[in-house]
Amino acid sequence: MTKHRFLQALGEGLPANQPTPVWLMRQAGRFMPDYMALRAGIPFLEFCKTPDLCIQATLLPIDQLGADAAILFADILLIPEALGLGLEYRAGEGPHFDHPIRTQQDIDQLSMNRFSDNINYVYEVVSGIRSALNERVPLIGFAGSPFTVGSYMVEGAHSKDHRNLKLMMWAEDGRFDALMTLLTDATIEYLKQQVAHGAQTLQLFDTWLEVLSPSDFCRYVKPYIKKIFAALSDTGVPTLYFGKGIGKMMDEVADLGSSAFSIDWSSDLDKFVERFGASHALQGNLDPVCLYGDRALIRRKVEEVLKKAKGTRRHVFNLGHGISPDMEQDKVKFLIDTVHELSGQS
Ligand code: CP3
Repeated sequence: MTKHRFLQALGEGLPANQPTPVWLMRQAGRFMPDYMALRAGIPFLEFCKTPDLCIQATLLPIDQLGADAAILFADILLIPEALGLGLEYRAGEGPHFDHPIRTQQDIDQLSMNRFSDNINYVYEVVSGIRSALNERVPLIGFAGSPFTVGSYMVEGAHSKDHRNLKLMMWAEDGRFDALMTLLTDATIEYLKQQVAHGAQTLQLFDTWLEVLSPSDFCRYVKPYIKKIFAALSDTGVPTLYFGKGIGKMMDEVADLGSSAFSIDWSSDLDKFVERFGASHALQGNLDPVCLYGDRALIRRKVEEVLKKAKGTRRHVFNLGHGISPDMEQDKVKFLIDTVHELSGQS
């Protein structure tokens, strides 16, 4: 079987005249009427723990949108839940932890002991998706970065200023390190198991990178991310790092150890191509807000991204952040078709 063009783009590079592969962050979700129908009456966490439903959700964007890669249907907060921290998803509010992590004692109550058993259902989803896909497109596994996941655990929910997490980090009294070390270990085991069960690429989501200064990032956070990518290097699968706000950290992320960067919409893709085109594959970075515009606008914005990626054969088209629930499925499909059409011509 020939290698899928998504894996070519992340690896040796696309052969000439091949359309650019495209998938979209949050490609399976509430903007799809068929996802809403699958979800009807089922709480999100219960949905995540029902492999058959997750497999179906993962396949929706492959069947209905023509995406070139599937992403495991799961959530970045399943790790803390499996470490023993009670998690709830509240309608209209998002994730919520009743007992946020603040003290060393709180951290000590989390445990790797039952982690594998607790999170085993995700591995069942991964192997189920691989067989259901039947090699049509590659499967991406993922996790959140320790800092981003830690923010929800320490703040208890979405936070505007991440004050509890930052104060814990700056206190330098061992709590932040203990929490990050635990999350790093759990993430390494989780991602390795995803590969063992069939994931062909891994993406680490670091949504809250943007709230760190470059020096705080280097001092407090980067060592854990490096440890994760170093531990994953012997899996042999491509690794993607998505850091929101990565554009202001080009020097700092250069030696992170991922084989690819996923660029958010606030960064310049062409600058990444110039600097990292020879060493890394690059993914991104259409501003998702253009999906609220008309088809002419979407087409123009797709053209702009493809033009910025011209200097590399290792580009995977994506949004610069996730699709929102109120975006229209027809336009999302139009976006994917347009990427294929315009990039296939060049
Ligand atoms: O990309 C995909 O389609 C795969 C599935 C996926 C989900 N979450 C499913 C989900 C992925 C890759 C994520 C990652 C994730 N989860 C991130 C990192 C990426 C990003 O968007 O910044 C973060 C920060 C989370 C945490 C999270 N999960 C939040 C803040 C929320 C509530 C807000 C929201 O977008 O709904 C969730 C819930 C969640 N995760 C949903 C889905 C489909 C919505 C739940 C529902 O259907 O009601």
